[in-house]
Amino acid sequence: METIVEYTLSANTLSVKDYVKLWESVGWGTPPVEKQIEAGLKNSIISVAATHKNQVIGMGRVIGDGVIMCYILDLIVLPEFQGKGIGKAIMENLIAYVKDSALLNTDITIGLFTSTGLDKFYEKFGFFIRSSDDRGSCMLMHINKDGTIYKPTYVQTRTNY
Ligand SMILES: CC(C)(COP(=O)(O)OP(=O)(O)OC[C@H]1O[C@@H](n2cnc3c(N)ncnc32)[C@H](O)[C@@H]1OP(=O)(O)O)[C@@H](O)C(=O)NCCC(=O)NCCS
Repeated sequence: METIVEYTLSANTLSVKDYVKLWESVGWGTPPVEKQIEAGLKNSIISVAATHKNQVIGMGRVIGDGVIMCYILDLIVLPEFQGKGIGKAIMENLIAYVKDSALLNTDITIGLFTSTGLDKFYEKFGFFIRSSDDRGSCMLMHINKDGTIYKPTYVQTRTNY
């Protein structure tokens, strides 16, 4: 039988230390530096932390303009607490916050990048895949403050332009 974990959700309480711990717990590699995380959290529309017995076990956050377009990112539940409905609760909380912040009689769009194998998880909330055949590609750029543009190692060199 699945163990029920009691936890609370809180808004905008996430610390840099907890962010790093969650990030590292799921093998996402080197996290952003402390100053980036500090400013990133401060500049977010909302961050949500799930806490169990004074330990932060999950997080998620929203960035964007709050009225036209928002993105959900950094959704993480500590591996030992996954599969207990915590990720879903964080997502529902973030989506409700965005919906409530929308202006009267308007639509608001929420975007996100999924990790491998998570399309079905996000589809449960109403997300759909925007096919690049229909609407063009999603593009990214990594640029250093000194102007250097680089591609991460997972990017294959494309020859079929
Ligand atoms: C993705 C993640 C946040 C999900 O959190 P979680 O607490 O384990 O998920 P939940 O227990 O709330 O699952 C909610 C529902 O989604 C389903 N689900 C969970 N993971 C799934 C997956 N990989 N594929 C399909 N469905 C999934 C559950 O079965 C559950 O379904 P139900 O509501 O019908 O019972 C968590 O697995 C995680 O931290 N993964 C590593 C980090 C990551 O990849 N984050 C996403 C970045 S895009």
